Amino acid sequence: MASASFTMDSVVVGRSARMRAVFDFVRVIADSDSSVLVTGETGTGKELIANLIHLSSSRRSKPFVAVSCAILSETLIESELFGHERGAFTGAIKDRPGRFELAQGGTIFLDDIDDVPLSMQVKLLRVLQNRVVERLGGTRQIPVDVRVITGSKRDLRALTAEGKFREDLFYRLNVIPVNLPPLRERREDIPVLVDHFVKRYFRQRGEQARSVSTAVMQAFMRYPWPGNVRELENACERIAQTCTCETVRLGCVPISVLFYKYAESPQPIAESHANPSAVSLEERLQDLETNLIRWALRMSNGNKSKAADMLKIKRSTLGDRIKKLGLVELETGEN
Ligand SMILES: Nc1ncnc2c1ncn2[C@@H]1O[C@H](COP(=O)(O)OP(=O)(O)OP(=O)(O)O)[C@@H](O)[C@H]1O
Ligand SMILES: [Mg+2]
Repeated sequence: MASASFTMDSVVVGRSARMRAVFDFVRVIADSDSSVLVTGETGTGKELIANLIHLSSSRRSKPFVAVSCAILSETLIESELFGHERGAFTGAIKDRPGRFELAQGGTIFLDDIDDVPLSMQVKLLRVLQNRVVERLGGTRQIPVDVRVITGSKRDLRALTAEGKFREDLFYRLNVIPVNLPPLRERREDIPVLVDHFVKRYFRQRGEQARSVSTAVMQAFMRYPWPGNVRELENACERIAQTCTCETVRLGCVPISVLFYKYAESPQPIAESHANPSAVSLEERLQDLETNLIRWALRMSNGNKSKAADMLKIKRSTLGDRIKKLGLVELETGEN
């Protein structure tokens, strides 16, 4: 397994060829001062990689400051990034340095750069060109020695074509592009990520590390992970909160992940009903039945007799339904 580890919370795990290429590239570019643009879908690890670049560089003993530009309004972004002087606006009761100043000597990571409004893009460009910031309501020009890494979910080049992102800023940010592939395109990383997070979250709860059953790993491998590593991490955290088994079994896996596993269509079941003009009663009833059976099996830890009692049906009927719906792995009760 290739992984780059620094502090506990900045361990980057990955053994796929694509992630190994990213790790190699990070080593090559770490010590340059050029701007880096990290692109990738939500939850692919953009911030983590930005942090890895920082920690691999000679700036590592200086601050790494991460800011998400998505949640901030325009005035807030400006004061957040460049700081403000007392009285600059209502509520500015004292002088406050911005994130650029706080990152002095180190690295700033501006995530969700695609959400920065055009007017703010001009100001950002000026800072990148002149390497000085001016606090809101201030007149002093404060020199900043900061490496800039930005993160974007959207294709910035396409946004420039639409006139939503300044081309000159794009070129300044995109000096070194790093793309993080979605998890579904690097499934080899799933087992190592599962091991890593399951260990981490059981340990955090002060419990012994557990392994996961083969069936659980298969369910994780099959699920498309639209929320990428973050979604997988959350699923592992939930498992650590609820699972009391020696080995993590299917019954301990969040229903959303299992749900997909048993859907016949390549889409999650919930999405297959997106078109309200074409609802199949038969399919809906099957989904409901599948769901109830899975719920009962989960509640009874895979014990079919107990599950049948909960559903007020005979054990043999439950067996038949399980077969009919193709819930093969749950049937054994071993997973
Ligand atoms: N390769 C990896 N190894 C270990 N943990 C990872 C990896 N990739 C992502 N994570 C974890 O997944 C979570 C999401 O990662 P991060 O915040 O870096 O994603 P992001 O791409 O910035 O997401 P967003 O687009 O939503 O801002 C974090 O908790 C991070 O630690
Ligand atoms: Mg992020």
